[in-house]
Amino acid sequence: MNENGQALQARALAQLDSIWDPAKLEEWRVEFIGRKGAVNALFEQINSISKEERGAFGKQANEVKQALETAFTARQGAVKQRALSEALEAEPLDVTLPGRRPQRGRLHPTTQTLREMYKIFGEMGFQVYRTRQVETDLMNFQLLNIPPYHPARDNWSTFYVADTDERVVLRTHTSPGQVRVMREMYPGPIRAILPGLCYRYEQISSRYEIQFNQLEGLAVGHNITFGDLKGTLTEFARRMFGERPVRFFADHFPFTEPSAQMDVKCIICEGAGCALCKYTGWLEILGGGMVHPVVLRNGGYDPDEWSGFAFGMGPERITMLKHGITDIRYFWGNDLRFLEQF
Ligand code: PHE
Repeated sequence: MNENGQALQARALAQLDSIWDPAKLEEWRVEFIGRKGAVNALFEQINSISKEERGAFGKQANEVKQALETAFTARQGAVKQRALSEALEAEPLDVTLPGRRPQRGRLHPTTQTLREMYKIFGEMGFQVYRTRQVETDLMNFQLLNIPPYHPARDNWSTFYVADTDERVVLRTHTSPGQVRVMREMYPGPIRAILPGLCYRYEQISSRYEIQFNQLEGLAVGHNITFGDLKGTLTEFARRMFGERPVRFFADHFPFTEPSAQMDVKCIICEGAGCALCKYTGWLEILGGGMVHPVVLRNGGYDPDEWSGFAFGMGPERITMLKHGITDIRYFWGNDLRFLEQF
């Protein structure tokens, strides 16, 4: 005759009482309350029991099942709890250990360069002025003396946003801001810098990006001369790149006349010739010139009474020259290995 319910329950509970190992606990579960375990075997005996005793037997079997399942759940909790305390004791928490330093963010290298520029020009009396990145064709080109179909438009590969009556473009340079500042400041004199993002429809390469910053400068007054432009930019270069020669030579922009380009002596080879300056000894830093009379007039200033100078430079390019960065794509690559170096 098989073991009766009570004996089974007593044996199972006695065994359970000494189990602390999760694997042993699982063996116990399979042996007693698993699908092919002893409790189910007990239920199977019911067929060989006389009709009169069957009710009592079934009731008892159910009680055994209940008791073992309850005991198992309780034991499972106790086993887990003990494993946890043992783990905690084995690896005690050292509250004196220094905490993990949170990673500090930092300013993007272009932002750092821009802030240096604001400081230099700010100390010369220029104020920062921001204008819109989405412009009309009128502002971006026509008021800057570049009519529709003018060949100079090829210099600014343009993203067109909307082809309405007033063509809408992403500004290709910060120069349209010149006209906006003039219209806002008239009839006062102007000393402003206009930083911000510009967009060009370029084939992206190590030298060209489709988005980049420019910093525009504009001075308008009654007696502003080309000498003022040279003096301002020479002083800027001295403070940005240190004591080194600069040179100016003729260039062309439709919105300045005369126009010039400024170079500084290569900061790597000091003029001897190297890969950075492409063996010329000089680095091109910016373009500028005297504000064209047409542009002054479009800004509301009478060119017979007023004159001005303007210049434009690329903060990414200047950052590249300062730090010997060879690929402009790093600036928008979001690669921490690059960004963390600044
Ligand atoms: N806007 C010109 C460019 O994007 C630069 C420039 C600005 C030249 C102001 C002259 C005066 O190339």
